[in-house]
Amino acid sequence: MIFEAADKMKNFEAGIFNILDDKRKELESQGRKIYNFSVGTPDFEPEEHIMKAVSEACLHPENYRYALSDRDELLEAVIRRYKHRYHTDIAKNEIMSVYGSQEGMTHIFLPLINPGDVVLLPNPGYPIFNTGAFVAQASQWLYPLTEENDYLPDLAAIPEDVCRAAKVMVVSYPANPICKTAPDSFYEELITFARENEILIIHDNAYSDIIYDGREGKSFLSFPGAKEVGVEFYSLSKSYNYTGARMSFVIGNPDVIALFKRFRSQIDYGIFLPVQMGAIAALSTDDAVVKEQCRKYQERRDALCGGLRAIGWNIPDSEGTMFAWGSLPEGYTDSNAFVMELMERTGVICTPGSSFGSLGEGHVRFALVLPPEQIKEAIESIRQSGILG
Ligand SMILES: Cc1ncc(COP(=O)(O)O)c(C=O)c1O
Repeated sequence: MIFEAADKMKNFEAGIFNILDDKRKELESQGRKIYNFSVGTPDFEPEEHIMKAVSEACLHPENYRYALSDRDELLEAVIRRYKHRYHTDIAKNEIMSVYGSQEGMTHIFLPLINPGDVVLLPNPGYPIFNTGAFVAQASQWLYPLTEENDYLPDLAAIPEDVCRAAKVMVVSYPANPICKTAPDSFYEELITFARENEILIIHDNAYSDIIYDGREGKSFLSFPGAKEVGVEFYSLSKSYNYTGARMSFVIGNPDVIALFKRFRSQIDYGIFLPVQMGAIAALSTDDAVVKEQCRKYQERRDALCGGLRAIGWNIPDSEGTMFAWGSLPEGYTDSNAFVMELMERTGVICTPGSSFGSLGEGHVRFALVLPPEQIKEAIESIRQSGILG
């Protein structure tokens, strides 16, 4: 029997990543050295106390029952973390877990909007925002992030009819892929804008602990009025390298949390209890550990951005996130074609900017997932190839 895919699957084509991966395998089979900066999976390890908490919990048979909900100790650990890290008070009914921000973001629009409702999303932006909106059959209005407006949404430039129609807006700083941060004043304006236009804000806070040059990573919820107008995704993937365990939280407006919980109660029996135990341990990680990791990311940022500038490729210093972002070298305009040529000629793999929306074209993104020595080797390979002209 032949099954025909639903029309929506046209939006889920394998695309450039599979092509890049096939090429990587081909080059590796020829013995070529590869420097893979394409995937944003941290190469740092979780702390031992986190792994121990998971593994000890795995030895208790009662932990294999359906969890059904978040354990009280887990909610308390989130509350303590937000109080200590962001000086922000949250209540237990303002928190729920999801299987990673990626999964949560895919589904959160479903209980919030009707097909055709307008949602505001960044361009360039992290692709899961568009996927979530697509799954819920939203009408996507993409707000541009450009140099002229300091890579922030120009709220005043969003047409009045779009503001009236919009139900949800996704915002995320430090921003993947553009590696920019937002000043406090932006969040204050955003909250006023949301309140005036009755638009729910979803802030994706994946990178507040990976932020450079003395900037302070904050939570959207630490700004007055935020909880009234929005929620924040808080992932354990990057701050604590709990990436594969799939654990993130939606935190904020209690009505939105209640709605999303009600929706999920029909499809989700809660996160595996040992994963919840590991998350409790992760949330108690010493600040110094998180800061030291950020320092190492900054070392890599310096090696990559500074190193590429030194050989004539003007990649600006990333302000935050575990990435670097910049324009293609002179003479190139098509990011897919450039990334293939770069891999072929140098063994360096990065991600084409076009994967992040139309305004990402003409750019590339590097994930800071290799140590400084390998970054230096990769830069030397680029220099020797002559690809920069
Ligand atoms: C902006 C942003 N949000 C969310 C995620 C995914 O987070 P999680 O591992 O919690 O699904 C990433 C991962 O790269 C990201 O860059």
